Formats: sequence, C-alpha cells, structure tokens
Amino acid sequence: MSNVVVIGTQWGDEGKGKIVDFLTPQADIVVRFQGGPNAGHTVVVGDKKTILHQIPSGILHPTTRCVIGNGVVLDLEQLLVEINELKKQCYFQNESALLISGNAHLIMPYHKQIDVARERRKGNAKIGTTGRGIGPAYEDKVSRCGIRVSDLLDDALFKSKVHENLEEKNCYLQHFFNESPLDPTDVIERYISMREGIVQFITDTSSFLIDAIRSNKKILFEGAQGALLDVDHGTYPFVTSSNTVAAQAAIGSGIGPHHLHVILGIAKAYTTRVGSGPFPTELHDTLGEMLRKKGGEFGATTGRPRRCGWFDIPLVRYAARINGLTHLALTKLDVLSGLKKIKICVGYRCKGEILEVATPHATVLPLCEPVYHECEGWDDDLSNISSFDDLPEPAKEYIKFIEHHIELPVIIISVGVKRNQIISLQHPFAL
Ligand code: GDP
Ligand code: IMO
Ligand code: MG
Repeated sequence: MSNVVVIGTQWGDEGKGKIVDFLTPQADIVVRFQGGPNAGHTVVVGDKKTILHQIPSGILHPTTRCVIGNGVVLDLEQLLVEINELKKQCYFQNESALLISGNAHLIMPYHKQIDVARERRKGNAKIGTTGRGIGPAYEDKVSRCGIRVSDLLDDALFKSKVHENLEEKNCYLQHFFNESPLDPTDVIERYISMREGIVQFITDTSSFLIDAIRSNKKILFEGAQGALLDVDHGTYPFVTSSNTVAAQAAIGSGIGPHHLHVILGIAKAYTTRVGSGPFPTELHDTLGEMLRKKGGEFGATTGRPRRCGWFDIPLVRYAARINGLTHLALTKLDVLSGLKKIKICVGYRCKGEILEVATPHATVLPLCEPVYHECEGWDDDLSNISSFDDLPEPAKEYIKFIEHHIELPVIIISVGVKRNQIISLQHPFAL
C-alpha cells in the first residue's frame, strides 16, 4: 500500500497540478502540507481551466477528500473566493470534501502589507515574492505570535491576539515603511464575518489522516513550489519561506515519515523560474522567448512572465538528493518539438572545477557556467501520443538521457495541458 508525495524538482510551476489531477482517481485523500496562496496549480479538464491556490488539486474529483494541513499558511479571503469559483464551475458540491487543520496559520492583512512594503523598499534587491504575505506569516508562526485557524473559534482569544499583534505591526508599518496602520476592530470584524464560510471544515486533520492510513486509504501529498525554493535547501535568500521538500509532507500534515512511500519528483523538460535569484541555464535570447510563448510560461498566481532556460541535470540531481526522490515525471515535453538541437546542462564549470551536483548557494551558483550536451531535436507534434513507443526516437533519447544522468526512472511523461495528454509507464500507487 503506497502513499505518494508529488514534489517540484526545480523552481516551481513544473506541472504539479496536472500530475496531481492525473493521480487523484487512484487516491482517497489529497493533502496540501506547506505554502499557501503563493502556489498556482493549473488543471485543464476539457476546455475548462482551473487554477488552485490553496485547495488541493484533487478537489476536481467529486469523491476525493482534500486536506489543508497544519503546515499551510491560509488566506481566508482568497480561500472563500476559491471555494466560490469552484462551486460556480460545478466542482466541490459536497462540503465534506474539504478539511482544514485548526493548526494551520492565518495570513493576516498586515502580513500582506509587510510583504509588499518590504519588497518595494528592497528595490532591485527584491526577492520577487508573490506579495501574498507568505514570508511574514511564517515569521510569526516561528516567533510564536501567529494566529492559527482554530483561534478563530474563540472570540476572546482571537481578539486579544489581533490586538497584541497590531500593537507591534502598526509600529513597524508606520515607522519603518511609512505605511498606514490597521484598525484592530476592522480586522477582527472582517475575520469574524468570514469565519462562517469555513467553520465547518476545521478539524484535527492529523488524526483524520492517521485513521485513514489505518483503514488502508491511499494518500497523495501535493507539494507546492519546488526544491530550489526550499527555505533551507534552495537558492537562499531567493526562496520561499517554507520547507518545500518531501520530508515536510510528514511535518505539514501531522503523520510519521514512514507513511511516505513513493516520492515522485516533477520535472519540466526545460527550466523556468519566476522572481529573482540565480538561474545558470537561463536563456536571454529568442529561444527563451520561444519557450515562454510556446509553453505559456506566465505565472499562474501573479501573471508575471517566467524566466526560461535549458534542463539542468545538476539541479535536478540535487533535488533528487534533498527529497529522496524515488521516481520522476517529466512534463511539457511537447513544448520542445520543432527545435533542431536541444541543449541539456550536464555539469557546471565553477572556480576551475567541474560540479556534477548543484550547490545552490547564492554566492556560488552565479559563478557556475553550465557545461552543455547537445541532443537531437524532433519536429513531430507530441500532443496526441499516448505510448512511449510512439514517441520520435530523439524524444526517447532525451528522456533516457535524463533518466541515466539523474539515476531515476521517468514513469510519467506529460505532452500537453489536458488530462488525457499523458504517457503513463508505471502508476505510482501500484508500485
Ligand atoms: P504547478 O504550479 O507545478 O502546478 O504548475 P503551473 O500550473 O503553475 O504551471 C504549469 C503550466 O503548464 C500550466 O499552465 C499547465 O496547464 C501547463 N502544463 C502542464 N503540463 C503540461 C504539458 O505537458 N504540456 C504543456 N504544453 N503544458 C503543460
Ligand atoms: P507553485 O506551487 C513558482 C517564488 C516567488 C519568489 C519566491 C518567494 O505554483 O509551483 P513567496 O511569495 O513565496 O514569498 O515568494 O518564490 N514562488 C513560486 N514560484 N511557483 C510557485 O508555486 C511559487 N511560489 C513562490 O516567485 O521568487
Ligand atoms: Mg504554479
């Protein structure tokens, strides 16, 4: 009996939403365990495109239970918008489909205000955050002044926490950032009025998941962001504020790590990044522009153009190490069709040495010059291919090259945005 963790192996936007949607029919429960509305996971069903930010992508399947775990930071206002949108699209018709951990932390209006003001103040040195208040919300969690979802259920406690926090935050906002202060009564009223929309979902999700595991239910853990955005292991400080690696699936949902079996790394057939920070294989020319256009590489959360570059083996090899990846899914292979030659980075030349695994240190990575191997391209349209054998020879070679160098099997290949545009070699729940 396997539980599966889906993890981004690059800088996010690898197509995790599409893969989670594909795997959900075999799962009983899908869990988000970190991050918050900085995530944008796209699922296309027929002609309908849905972007999930906080609710697990499994919600598009009517019988699946979806859990927002304790490791998530939750924006209530955005959550209510997301719920409404889903209902309008005729998804999420059964209220029991969603469970929210009482221990998840709330993103408060001052978190968003601080996030945006801080980025503005940094100017060119900005991180390029999504402006969703992620960093400041996690800061409060760690400094033990955060407000948890369950605090909403106790009027007196909630009010006192908002007052206590605003005493400090208003001082910071006014005197450090020159921002307007927030009125505690307004904030309290706004949150209490929104509470009605989510109170029925709040529960002890850790205990729900452990009971489910005991009943042999299959759980799919849906990672957000990507390995190189991990706050400990990524390209710090150009990272997000949570641990995005597979081990966090246990911590962020309140189960033991021995319940995580298959760690499926999602890798895009090339590389993209939104926001600032080092990116060794970035293409600054028309090829980069072509990948952006053909791959529709614009942020699902902020609409910002994504930076594009060649596939980077040292980086994904590093992701394999820090996550303990067991298998790979390769997405967006179709986007590479039409290129005469495809470059793939096999190592870095750095301070006179050749590195085979990335050292994503912000002072080291910018000094790394990629060493490329050139693969043959292909002209064929891949978007209707459903079996590995039908792929053009150079596309097969490209996949085998990646498998060989990362030393992991590619078990899923995605060749288009839609549900059926996928080549499945092995099903992770059947492993
Ligand atoms: P996520 O954050 O990892 O879920 O990825 P995003 O949804 O932010 O970005 C992935 C984008 O690529 C979305 O627009 C998807 O619809 C699209 N996509 C996913 N898989 C494929 C694929 O195999 N081919 C193409 N052309 N697009 C894909
Ligand atoms: P999904 O789940 C791509 C990036 C931001 C910024 C950095 C910090 O869709 O793959 P934050 O708002 O988290 O403090 O921003 O992290 N970032 C993402 N990039 N995909 C994401 O999520 C991201 N979530 C955050 O662009 O560089
Ligand atoms: Mg995304």
